[in-house]
Amino acid sequence: MKRLAVAVLAATLFAVPAFAQEIVIKFSHVVAPATPKGKAADRFKELAEKYTDGKVKVEVYPNSQLYKDKEELEALQLGAVQMLAPSLAKFGPLGVREYEAFDLPYIFPDKAALRKVLDGDVGKQLFAKLEDKGIRGLAYWDNGFKIMSANSPLLVPDDFLGLKLRIQSSKVLEAQMKALGAVPQVMAFSEVYQALQTGVVDGTENPPSNMFTQKMHEVQKHATISNHGYLGYAVIVNKKFWDELPEEIRAALDKAMVEATAYANEIAQAENDKALAAMKASGKTEFHEQTAEERAAWMEALRPVHDEVAERVGKDLIQSIYQATGAAN
Ligand code: LMR
Repeated sequence: MKRLAVAVLAATLFAVPAFAQEIVIKFSHVVAPATPKGKAADRFKELAEKYTDGKVKVEVYPNSQLYKDKEELEALQLGAVQMLAPSLAKFGPLGVREYEAFDLPYIFPDKAALRKVLDGDVGKQLFAKLEDKGIRGLAYWDNGFKIMSANSPLLVPDDFLGLKLRIQSSKVLEAQMKALGAVPQVMAFSEVYQALQTGVVDGTENPPSNMFTQKMHEVQKHATISNHGYLGYAVIVNKKFWDELPEEIRAALDKAMVEATAYANEIAQAENDKALAAMKASGKTEFHEQTAEERAAWMEALRPVHDEVAERVGKDLIQSIYQATGAAN
């Protein structure tokens, strides 16, 4: 916190005043540049600078260079950075628990169902919940469905018993791992590789693009292509900063964001497919495709999580997701 306070002070002292020529947007994120989010952030930079004729400079800081998961949200609220794209699983500690509904196992049958929810009323209502935290939501960017990895095969739910598995800071993910008999450990993304390497945790879950670019496949012997849950992002800005921008600048940035979002959601699946293929080719991790029986057993073990966390994330929200996705629940 002390480091953060110093960083905030420095950022405040040296920030370019609003009336000066160049407006700087510091866009901090925790993943590698060669991921769906990393590429989309770079695309946003390119478009934002182009559409504002260089009046706005976007500085992208990948790989937790500036802040780790929890710190980056604090930094955004304090105005030390202006833009982030945390995963939807990371909004609980901010007091917006509803986003954890997106972590529910098997809640989205496919990406089309997911987009229907995020691009519809639910997505808008959830953005509205960020406003009194000093945050404005701009867009939702895709990553993909998660796979589960460890140093032992994860075929049936019993294979999870007693394994220490790293999770993001989401109570739904905590309930998910517990439902499988595992021991969940919340940990910042930047610490996962080392924790896997040294055995602090036994395994984790992530879409292939994150697993590959963090080299997790080099320290995980097994992975199951379970696609049991979703990981995607909310692109958010410091509300005060955004509201105080000259109108024509905001309009240009909105246009850049619309295009960067289309790009993000267009490349996400292919990036994950490529990452999975590269990891398979490396031969370091053994990838397991689930049989219908195995998938059914996972679903049966994980389905109770929906009811368990309904109170926390909102029964009505879960029902509206079921309705939008056409799930018979
Ligand atoms: C994670 O912490 O596993 C992910 O949220 C990282 C990310 O931003 O994709």
